[in-house]
Amino acid sequence: MCGIVGYIGHREAYPVIIKGLQRLEYRGYDSAGVALLDGDLNVYKKQGKVATLHDFAKDKPLGAKVGIGHTRWATHGAPSDHNAHPHVSNSGKLVMIHNGIIENYAAIKTELTQKGYTFKSETDSEVFVNFIEDIYQNTLVDLAEAVRLALTKVIGAYAIVILSTENPDLVIAARKGSPLVVGLGKNEFFLASDATPIIEYTNEVVYLDDQEIAIIENNNLTIKNIEDVEMKPYIQKIDMELEAIEKGGYEHFMIKEIFEQPRSIGDCLRGRLNANEGHLHLGGIQDYINKITNADRILIIACGTSWHAGLVAEYIFEEFCRIPVEVEYASEFRYRNPVVGEKDVVIAISQSGETADTLAAIELAKSKGATILGVCNVVGSSIPRATHAGSYTHAGPEIGVASTKAFTAQISVLAMMALMIAHKKGAIKESVYRNLLLELDAIPDKVAKCLDLNPQIEIISEKFKNATNFLYLGRGYNFPVALEGALKLKEISYIHAEGYPAAEMKHGPIALIDENMPVVFIATKDGSYEKIVSNIQEVKARKGQVIAVVTEGDTEIGSMADHIIEVPAAHEALMPLISVVPLQLLSYHIAVMRGCNVDQPRNLAKSVTVE
Ligand code: M6R
Repeated sequence: MCGIVGYIGHREAYPVIIKGLQRLEYRGYDSAGVALLDGDLNVYKKQGKVATLHDFAKDKPLGAKVGIGHTRWATHGAPSDHNAHPHVSNSGKLVMIHNGIIENYAAIKTELTQKGYTFKSETDSEVFVNFIEDIYQNTLVDLAEAVRLALTKVIGAYAIVILSTENPDLVIAARKGSPLVVGLGKNEFFLASDATPIIEYTNEVVYLDDQEIAIIENNNLTIKNIEDVEMKPYIQKIDMELEAIEKGGYEHFMIKEIFEQPRSIGDCLRGRLNANEGHLHLGGIQDYINKITNADRILIIACGTSWHAGLVAEYIFEEFCRIPVEVEYASEFRYRNPVVGEKDVVIAISQSGETADTLAAIELAKSKGATILGVCNVVGSSIPRATHAGSYTHAGPEIGVASTKAFTAQISVLAMMALMIAHKKGAIKESVYRNLLLELDAIPDKVAKCLDLNPQIEIISEKFKNATNFLYLGRGYNFPVALEGALKLKEISYIHAEGYPAAEMKHGPIALIDENMPVVFIATKDGSYEKIVSNIQEVKARKGQVIAVVTEGDTEIGSMADHIIEVPAAHEALMPLISVVPLQLLSYHIAVMRGCNVDQPRNLAKSVTVE
């Protein structure tokens, strides 16, 4: 939540910053601002999208070689020009951008107010920059030390970048709980919430760790921690192509990412699965394989779409590994006193690797002695660094706020993990194992076939674009797909949608069914097929409108449903990888037809770094 960018070097800072903010806009988009330091300090801020800021700034002085920028997802204070970042200190000498929340800001604000400080915004961030100023002005320390001292006193999460009018060759940045990457160019440095604003200029980066401070002064980078110990920067080479973060001819990132799935699932399997030779290996969990195989229990923690992938994984792990699995919302798990022991293995699933609730749940489980594995997409993000081991999903950057290709990549990794453990444990028959590897290998081609359904799904979307409610029903492996289909629709089209296990319908939701209620059944051929056919009849008997995702060649449901979407057959454990694709397309088209901003839906942000 909130994207931050900073630049110091030989280029004009503004174009680097504005382009960077556009790339980070998925992190928040209610207001944006830049500060440019060029002898004078110029700060431009606007409520709304980065494009509004860009339009506002175009006639202003923009020649500075040092600057910072911010795109905001409001926490303290409504979206407005004055609450937008950067925030300038009372003296006018310090300017700062902040991603995160300072929990003790009210106490600090009271203290500063008593000293005569005034505030133009309602933000915790403006308090934070003035707190630094107060320490700087009242102690005989340099600015970097004043920042460090302030950081020892604030409670909460932050990624900050600060400039000072007294020294335009100095940039200070720090992080705790919110991500921050330093890009190392030739005589230039970049700072950003993730690497996407940086890769155009350099592939050498340093991911700051929690409680580290980066001081860039006179073309030198020094990193220290908040205990004042100098740290050796760990320079990593990032492997990300520019085209991966651009729309590449598609109208929206979401549709690009849906269509990327044959490739992204293929990338996820590559080098790990050789189905013909019966070989499956996830190097990232190898050191913990005995621990996992002998686990008392697997606990899966995640939020949103990642939680739905966790539900699919629960079914797969229990079926093939015979290890009990519980799937928990990270936000609930972290605030109760869960029973977790040393023989438990926790799998934390997160696309961004930055979700605050998931990170906190990891720390809690770790403190109780569990082994923690991560399944994340963003390389170098906080969760992979907080876990003992794990596997990346390799889906490539996911920019659309609605998660699509990350979901299918998560299930692919989790299925591989389950099969590797089941095989190691001897819990799965060799023939079943071999067959599942072949089935997994065939998934990218089957997903590609689902994408051919796009024109048909567009026609169905047209018919239902004005609906006010939707029900999504599935059983077994397709139940989490029903939840995911409903989440996709509601988050981007603002249509109320509920996902349910189809058999639960008769315990309540059936009361909602009438001729105006579209009901999406995920009814592919599997162990509960006959049961779901009965559920479809129950809906038809009450005049509900049925859209059914069925296995190719299914004639039985075809004769009952109003619309059928035929997808390729697959092993039922892997069917969610296929059956979710038409639901992604359905929600996308309905949202576009309703004129919604599918990539940046209202009130949402891609990476939820607040509680
Ligand atoms: O980055 P994470 O996977 O941890 O994010 C979890 C959720 O915030 C995320 O899946 C969210 O629900 C998406 N908007 C769903 O499309």
